Amino acid sequence: MPANASSPTEVAPHIKREKIISLLKKKFDFENAHLRVPGKKGNGILSKCQSYDAPNQAKDLGIYPFFREIQGTEGSKVRIDDKDVISVSTNNYLGLTKDSRVIAAARAALEKFGAGCTGSRFLNGTLSLHKTLERDLSAFLNREDTIVMSTGFQANQGTISCLLGRKDVAFSDRENHASIYEGCAIAPGKTVRYRHNDMDHLEYCLKKHSGVDGKIIITDTVFSMSGDIANLPGIVKLAKDYRATVLVDEAHGLGVLGDRGKGLTTYYDLEKEIDIYVGTFSKSLGSIGGFVSGDARVMEYIRHKASAFIFTAALPPASVAGVTAALDIMNRETERLDRLRDNTAYIKKGFFDIGYQVNNNQVPIVPIKIGDEALTLFLNQLLFNDGIFASVAVSPVVPPLNAMIRTSYTASHTREDLDRILASFQKFGTELGIIPQ
Ligand SMILES: Cc1ncc(COP(=O)(O)O)c(C=O)c1O
Repeated sequence: MPANASSPTEVAPHIKREKIISLLKKKFDFENAHLRVPGKKGNGILSKCQSYDAPNQAKDLGIYPFFREIQGTEGSKVRIDDKDVISVSTNNYLGLTKDSRVIAAARAALEKFGAGCTGSRFLNGTLSLHKTLERDLSAFLNREDTIVMSTGFQANQGTISCLLGRKDVAFSDRENHASIYEGCAIAPGKTVRYRHNDMDHLEYCLKKHSGVDGKIIITDTVFSMSGDIANLPGIVKLAKDYRATVLVDEAHGLGVLGDRGKGLTTYYDLEKEIDIYVGTFSKSLGSIGGFVSGDARVMEYIRHKASAFIFTAALPPASVAGVTAALDIMNRETERLDRLRDNTAYIKKGFFDIGYQVNNNQVPIVPIKIGDEALTLFLNQLLFNDGIFASVAVSPVVPPLNAMIRTSYTASHTREDLDRILASFQKFGTELGIIPQ
């Protein structure tokens, strides 16, 4: 970067990719930015904080992509720095966060029950609203029972950590969400991580533990960064062969895949084969919260044993009522799902046509894999300045040198939005040598 440039956008666009990377790297050690920061000896537990400088370095370069302040939202747009930009950094797949019926239901619950529950579901925080939502989810997913929790993170963490006993073994896809990692890490049982979506490796791991009675295979159905879908038929077959329980995390499958957005489980017609279904309200259902569904006896156990459920305050009334309304809309009106699928097909074909590699599936998560972290942050900033708000995934969220721009699409995007996004990616991708001229 020129010595007097304060932001990467001041770098002339004709500068070649290698040049930009080397200029940025001189100032910022991207590959090692995530590593443990050595604290100064003798300065106590907080010394690591004093020497943690990676965010400031990125801010100085004008390429810091996190914690952007959103001043308002409208359809596919968000307002940031007093400017409307198209968001491809959202999990509001069905565009339900601002549906008037969802807002009305949330407002009514707020008026009736107040701002919060001020206590755990276990003791004093279970409202009739929670029970209604649990019944609705059980009916929608054809499960005996459901537990509504305060976040999807806690649903995974609480469920896994209370089920995985000392003698049990969990088999967890290496690309699973952090909440699954955390659940496994705090459980007394052992966890074996199998290679991402690799059924041969999963079978190898299961075979090695065939003497173990308590085995559980855990997988995201839609992987949140790559947008891959799990090989659920393969997993179910192996679970049968090796007598293992199956837990799926449908965080990004719910509202997106299968009939009426019931998830990958329904897409593959495997509802009866999946023992435990975990989901979140923070994506298609447009709010916050999580849940776990399954057989009544299993749910009753989790309800009384999961620390992440028992020792935390209940999901607030407005959120519960909003989610209940959103679920009803999702179940009855399929046009949002149709629009989401049309938009997904359109954007994927568009990216493919201009030279980006994309997954050929129905998942509206479209990662643009760049590799180098400096180049990824730089491209992201150029996109933002051009009116596109995307997310970046850098190490440790993805392995080093696997940095990507994670884009995601919703029913609210218009064709005009999608064409604008493609034009922007084409322009900067070509300039930076990411795609062919
Ligand atoms: C695959 C997956 N599981 C679980 C979660 C956690 O969901 P929540 O936001 O409800 O805590 C997320 C959210 O990022 C996710 O992507």
